[in-house]
Amino acid sequence: MNRRYRKTIIAGNWKMNKTPAEAKALIEEMKPLLSKTKWCEMVLCVPFTDIQAAVKAAKGSKIAIGAENMHFEKSGAFTGEISADMLKELGVKYVIIGHSERRQYFNETDEACGKKVQVALENGLRPILCVGESLTEREQDVTMEVIRKQIKIALQNVAVEDIKKVVIAYEPIWAIGTGKTATADQAQEVCAMIRHTIAEMYDEATAEAVRIQYGGSMNAGNAAELLSKPDIDGGLIGGAALKPDFGKIVNYNK
Ligand code: PGA
Repeated sequence: MNRRYRKTIIAGNWKMNKTPAEAKALIEEMKPLLSKTKWCEMVLCVPFTDIQAAVKAAKGSKIAIGAENMHFEKSGAFTGEISADMLKELGVKYVIIGHSERRQYFNETDEACGKKVQVALENGLRPILCVGESLTEREQDVTMEVIRKQIKIALQNVAVEDIKKVVIAYEPIWAIGTGKTATADQAQEVCAMIRHTIAEMYDEATAEAVRIQYGGSMNAGNAAELLSKPDIDGGLIGGAALKPDFGKIVNYNK
């Protein structure tokens, strides 16, 4: 990554794991491992029901708490949904938007992701917008088109002064939870294209300021190589963020 322009951001995505008591225990265990980390921002995105416990447990540390999803409406008849201001009031700083599991199981479209990104920004939450191709799309050599479309549609209404607050997570679907990490070169190639797309939509200087993460079976063993690439500014980590091992990823360069 280019530390001259951008601060690394390592985020965990707990998915549907951990009760509030388990969340508290895990954060307490991670805290000492993360206490001296200055070179990167650390975020743990947790289930809605864990947010209060996680915010409380992370107090006094450098860990920011994020959510894994939100609705794009402010309030109303959306049974089972959670709004941006509900998250904000609990102390949430980041929110994952358009994770491939939400796109796959809950039919989230690029347009819906775009609305969520807008509403998150309006409410002072920083979106982590996920994009990524399926195995078929990679095999059919349409990865770049697929991701370019996801970026252009989801970010079409984001103003130039806001885009720097958006984190983009490149997560090839075939690498998520499979133990099959993209090679550092594959990940770099796509992250560079994402930055190029942002430059086209805004300008070069703006694109240099936007942080792009890699996600998909990232762990303490492969983080260093991935993070050494010029356009990879951090990681979105699933499985490995459910263990104190997360501290090893965050401290890989010690
Ligand atoms: P993984 O998940 O690290 O377990 O592959 C990443 C993610 O889904 O964000």
